[in-house]
Amino acid sequence: MSVALIIGTQWGDEGKGKVVDYYSKNADYVARFQGGNNAGHTIKVGEEVYKLHIAPSGVIQGKTGIIGNGVVIDPEILIGEIENLTKRGIKPKLLISDRANIIMPYHKILDGAEEQLLGDKKIGTTKRGIGPCYSDKVSRNGIRAVDLTDKKTLDNLLKRIVPVKQKMIDIYAIDYTIDKDEILKVYSNYGQQLKDYITTTHIELNKAISEDKNIIFEGAQGTMLDVDFGTYPYTTSSHTIAGGASIGTGVGPKHIDSIIGIVKAYTTRVGEGPLPTELFDKTGEYLQQKGHEFGTTTSRPRRCGWLDLVVLRHSTMISGVTKLAITKLDVLNGLKQVKICTKYQLDEREIDFFPANIEDVQKCKPIYKEFEGWDMIDKDAKKRSDLPLEAQKYLQFIEKELQIPITLISIGPGRKETIEV
Ligand code: GDP
Ligand code: IMO
Ligand code: MG
Repeated sequence: MSVALIIGTQWGDEGKGKVVDYYSKNADYVARFQGGNNAGHTIKVGEEVYKLHIAPSGVIQGKTGIIGNGVVIDPEILIGEIENLTKRGIKPKLLISDRANIIMPYHKILDGAEEQLLGDKKIGTTKRGIGPCYSDKVSRNGIRAVDLTDKKTLDNLLKRIVPVKQKMIDIYAIDYTIDKDEILKVYSNYGQQLKDYITTTHIELNKAISEDKNIIFEGAQGTMLDVDFGTYPYTTSSHTIAGGASIGTGVGPKHIDSIIGIVKAYTTRVGEGPLPTELFDKTGEYLQQKGHEFGTTTSRPRRCGWLDLVVLRHSTMISGVTKLAITKLDVLNGLKQVKICTKYQLDEREIDFFPANIEDVQKCKPIYKEFEGWDMIDKDAKKRSDLPLEAQKYLQFIEKELQIPITLISIGPGRKETIEV
């Protein structure tokens, strides 16, 4: 039996969906523990492409997907995703934590209103209501999955919460009146549609562990979007790091056997906020075009740059990463030279850690180590030694610097384009 935790080590979109799907072949359960439908996880099986926002990626391989208590759920999106997958011949096996918070219509309104008010200081959120929903959870004004299944409870909660939310919307001078009765009708209907999935997933998972089942925890977003350890305030509102898995599922940390950090072979970011190795030149464009770096959720172009070891040292340390999975190595094909940032120049100093002060991060200039590029990776490569020598050297350097073994190399979006080391 094994419990593996898979997290993004950069700013999201590292290829978590692909890697989770790959490892799912041996799993019984795949559980999401944080985030919501701000995530977009892509899985390519043959010619079929699945873009999942809320269902765990393991459902594509027919595994039981758990939506943990730490996830925030937009029921309309979830029901749509279930219907869509079912139409495509995959009836997802899902269990939803009774304690997961629900994204309500006013969360989406408030997400947009806050961003608008911030103007050019905006976070660049996905406008899915994620931040306002997590804020309400922490300030104890949330509505949880279990509440949708009981109309009286939901009504009582809405009676308490809606007047406060209306006041906030009015302060933002948004012309929107929350229709409590309409929400009650629509959301208790969602509750009826989802009630068979809603359960005590923390008990289910702990029972599975005691029965020696295989479990994968699937992170969303990435470490640099973590609300504590990311580029705050340009982050999401949840704990994207390994520690989040325990809180977001109710499984004690002692049960986790391996922590797999997904590392894209270069760096990307969607939305606002600092990205020290960002490239504004032809190489940046090359990575964006060759890597199809356009958001899975919002279709926004992703900003691209070289691989950043300062970021990776930070993310592998705070999550205690035990194995690395390198993705999109093939995107670097054809570049004469590739670079890895090893340190930052901050004013007069050279630093090798990620600063907390956002103004300092904005000032950091990357210091690079240069590597010879390579022409092409054979799509059928099955061993690390099948890779061009230059690509092997690139990987060796990452491994040596981080002192963590690479156990998977992804050289294309498909399941087969994977080298397991
Ligand atoms: P996630 O959010 O971490 O699951 O990543 P996304 O699905 O948002 O973005 C990753 C994109 O890269 C998707 O379009 C994947 O199909 C694609 N992808 C994943 N691994 C590879 C790879 O090794 N090579 C290439 N070329 N594409 C990949
Ligand atoms: P996956 O799971 C990349 C970014 C948004 C924005 C910030 C806050 O596919 O890797 P939010 O809507 O969460 O309040 O937005 O976080 N963001 C992501 N960027 N991949 C994601 O998910 C993201 N989820 C949120 O672009 O900058
Ligand atoms: Mg994504």
